[in-house]
Amino acid sequence: MMSHEDRFVLPTYGRFPFVLKGGKGHFVFDEDGGRYLDLYGGHAVALLGHCPKPVVDAVRGQADTLLFYSNLVYSQVRSRAAEALVRFCRRPGAQVFFCNSGTEANEAAMRVARLVTGRPKVVSTYGSFHGRTAGSLAATGIAKYKHAMTGAASDTVHVRFGDLKAAKAALTKEAAAFILEPVQSMSGVIMPPKGYLKGLEKLCRKAGAVLIFDEVQTGLGRLGAPTAAQAFHAAPGIQTFAKALASGVPCGAIVIAPELVRKLEPGALGSTFGGGPLAAAAVEATVKTLLKGRLWTQARRLEALFRERLKSPFLKEIRGKGLLLGLVLDRPARELRDHLLERRILTGLSEDPNVLRLLPPLTLGEAEVDELAAAVKSFK
Ligand SMILES: Cc1ncc(COP(=O)(O)O)c(C=O)c1O
Repeated sequence: MMSHEDRFVLPTYGRFPFVLKGGKGHFVFDEDGGRYLDLYGGHAVALLGHCPKPVVDAVRGQADTLLFYSNLVYSQVRSRAAEALVRFCRRPGAQVFFCNSGTEANEAAMRVARLVTGRPKVVSTYGSFHGRTAGSLAATGIAKYKHAMTGAASDTVHVRFGDLKAAKAALTKEAAAFILEPVQSMSGVIMPPKGYLKGLEKLCRKAGAVLIFDEVQTGLGRLGAPTAAQAFHAAPGIQTFAKALASGVPCGAIVIAPELVRKLEPGALGSTFGGGPLAAAAVEATVKTLLKGRLWTQARRLEALFRERLKSPFLKEIRGKGLLLGLVLDRPARELRDHLLERRILTGLSEDPNVLRLLPPLTLGEAEVDELAAAVKSFK
């Protein structure tokens, strides 16, 4: 099976050495029935765990009713999904644009900022990851990902993450937006310095630029609050979401503050599949499940458990917040990742060779934290 896929699918990904067949909660299963504890959360997507029942039921029901129609028609399920997301973000008067992925959500956010300000430039931060399409890639601040950016006219400047002075200097009259991950994940889980995000909010307001929070990883409860904006008491003009938004059905979205909404007209944004009924049903079920159980509180509880139980002479620090955690090691993270993989525990690497990332589902219990702690302890 592995060699079959290698024959027919482009070799653009490094992969775990097994064929995945199924998943339930925080476990996934290979073809031979082997069980893996998924602390990588299917690349930060399975925040509610794999195949969460309310989402599976909603998708099944919607598939029987209508798989797809475009945005040319009104749709009850789309409007319920949007309302649920606005409530979740606690942004009365905000509105939603649906698309299909994180990179598309960031493209849409930057497009809105350029449209409403009439300005060309976007300010971003070094170390950020925003996606692989041209605009998002221009905003990305990790050089490795930019090699494929051939000839894309980049009106993007980068500044140091955490540096308000540099942000102020970059927010000129040309700047439409400042885009950032509130916590930089791919870089190795870098937390914003205290006061940085509020400071950016003030600077952007003064400069007439739109503050964009890329919440593709940090949103939807992972940080211990419904959104990163709420976790850091900040009010960005636009928040972008994807990954966990529809529990695995491809979907992205941007949530736009009311003052920006007023300046948009038909044609400003568009997507054939964005907000289609199947994805919308999955969004509605995902967001309502998170809201009903206030599941973001689990992220706080689990973070405390990880910090209490994970001990090793090789573990220098645990960075991050909620269920976006970076284990900083005194040796290559790949060694611990492989050790855990042998024990059937899935974790993620990052751009920092010494940082192992945990992006687990909110469904974890104490037993799974202990399973990881024991496996880490056996790492020599
Ligand atoms: C913070 C962040 N933004 C954007 C993206 C791009 O999302 P997608 O792969 O859905 O385009 C990612 C993907 O890892 C991400 O982590």
